[in-house]
Amino acid sequence: MRYLCLLLVLLLPLPAAAAKPAGSMVVAAHPQAVAAGIDMLNKGGNAFDAAAAVALALGVVEPGSSGFGGGGFFLLYIAKTDRYVMIDARETAPALAGHGEVYATASSIDGPQSAGVPGLPAGVERLVSSYGQLPRSDVTAPAIRLAREGFAVTPHLGAMIRWRAEAFNDSGRAIFMRRQGETIRQPALADTLARFAVKGAADFYRGETAGRLVADMQRDGGLIRLADLAAYHVIEREPVSFDFHGFHVVSAALPSSGGMTLAHIFAQLQDDDLAALSRADRTHLLIETMKRAYRDRNACLGDSDFVSIPKDYLDAQRLQALRASIQMDQTTPSAELAGFAEPIGASVDTTHFSIIDAEGNMVSATLSINYGFGSGYVSPSTGILLNDEMDDFATRPGQPNAYGLVQGRANAVAPGKRMLSSMTPTFVVGPDRTFIVGTPGGSRIISMVLLAAVGFMLDETPPADWVNRGRFHHQFLPDLVQYEPDAFSPPLAAGLEKRGHLLKQMNRQYGNMQAILWDRRSGRLTGIADRRGDGAARQP
Ligand code: DON
Repeated sequence: MRYLCLLLVLLLPLPAAAAKPAGSMVVAAHPQAVAAGIDMLNKGGNAFDAAAAVALALGVVEPGSSGFGGGGFFLLYIAKTDRYVMIDARETAPALAGHGEVYATASSIDGPQSAGVPGLPAGVERLVSSYGQLPRSDVTAPAIRLAREGFAVTPHLGAMIRWRAEAFNDSGRAIFMRRQGETIRQPALADTLARFAVKGAADFYRGETAGRLVADMQRDGGLIRLADLAAYHVIEREPVSFDFHGFHVVSAALPSSGGMTLAHIFAQLQDDDLAALSRADRTHLLIETMKRAYRDRNACLGDSDFVSIPKDYLDAQRLQALRASIQMDQTTPSAELAGFAEPIGASVDTTHFSIIDAEGNMVSATLSINYGFGSGYVSPSTGILLNDEMDDFATRPGQPNAYGLVQGRANAVAPGKRMLSSMTPTFVVGPDRTFIVGTPGGSRIISMVLLAAVGFMLDETPPADWVNRGRFHHQFLPDLVQYEPDAFSPPLAAGLEKRGHLLKQMNRQYGNMQAILWDRRSGRLTGIADRRGDGAARQP
């Protein structure tokens, strides 16, 4: 009998988790970057080769959002070894930025002094050399071609160019001041990418590109020096992972606050049955948990290689006590949880892409140069548009950054330190479906990923709805619920106001989510590019 049972077990179909996807898929914010990824898959490359090509191409055709002069986080799942890893290619503070909460230079947003040491070249190099199958020259080729031959300005990009026109230096103006439908060509960047194709990241951090970039910075008032570039390294980190009601969530580790903040919110919700709650109660509860999680994020989180995070940060008892402080009929004003000043800021840039290949390798990557067109400073001799990621540090005590975040000492500037991020590339693995998700959107990134993850977990509406439906956000300060025009029905808005919430409708939509749903029972893949952007989902 025992043998019969064993035999039956062996004859049963493989568990759902063992299924492979029916093919592969790339979802990213620009069709020409998607095409670059698809080219790599068609050449026999894997998801990591595709990710390298997409990242480099996005830096060319979506120049206001990410690029060679920026950084980001690549969250990977390596199917063969069943391993998750995060490549931390976040920028670091240059030594000349000094120590402390007060940023020594005039602006942390516009101009070359706002740039951190870029991490993207090193991140792409690591992807290709440790995880890819194709040569570096293959994954770089589409970006070089797009930089040389040019690409057309979309209405979204045209609007971003007009918005940031004042920030550009002469080189930036010469390259980017183009109208919708006109072509942007970046010959100097093409040459820099061509050097990368041959010599790799060594050229950027210690070679010809390093020398050119630093000469430009010294002449134009930037802080990055050869020693900063030489000291830069990517870090492979263990992602944040946790379980919630049968779902396994894997997300970005520090110096991104994304995973920690999701873990914080879901731990508060551990004893709640979200599916059983009314729409109004669920919305109220999510807002209240966001508010508490962002409070702790802003006060306590920073680069964990430089500061220690309170040991009980994710302690279940502490977070359950926070949950107990939530009243269902009334909002808790932020001032009663703690107090700061309150301002607000907004922006739409940065980029996210999601990739899966036929082996089940997955990439969820969020990349940035921070604000639209970063610092606006293009290094003339390399064509590299530099980030303004220094603004993600707490550069002025008690004052908000570009996203209205008021942050603490843990996120103060220090040489070599990585500024706290909200980028939240994430995998949510359910019993029989997997969701790859992420988005740009500054401080709102985490709440957007939260809402999409909850949509996936509850599965009450079609997948496109998790990405496309109107969003709401609370980040502790300012003490108000920011929401997209279509996020709340009038009765829902009235109900929230009755509970004491101050609602602030955003005058435009925000975020640009790119997601993949993998049904592991059928192998079926569904790609969802946010209706708010120019993105596309494709299979080879
Ligand atoms: O790392 C961060 O949190 C920011 N630099 C992300 C900026 C961003 O998403 C801009 N888009 N709206």
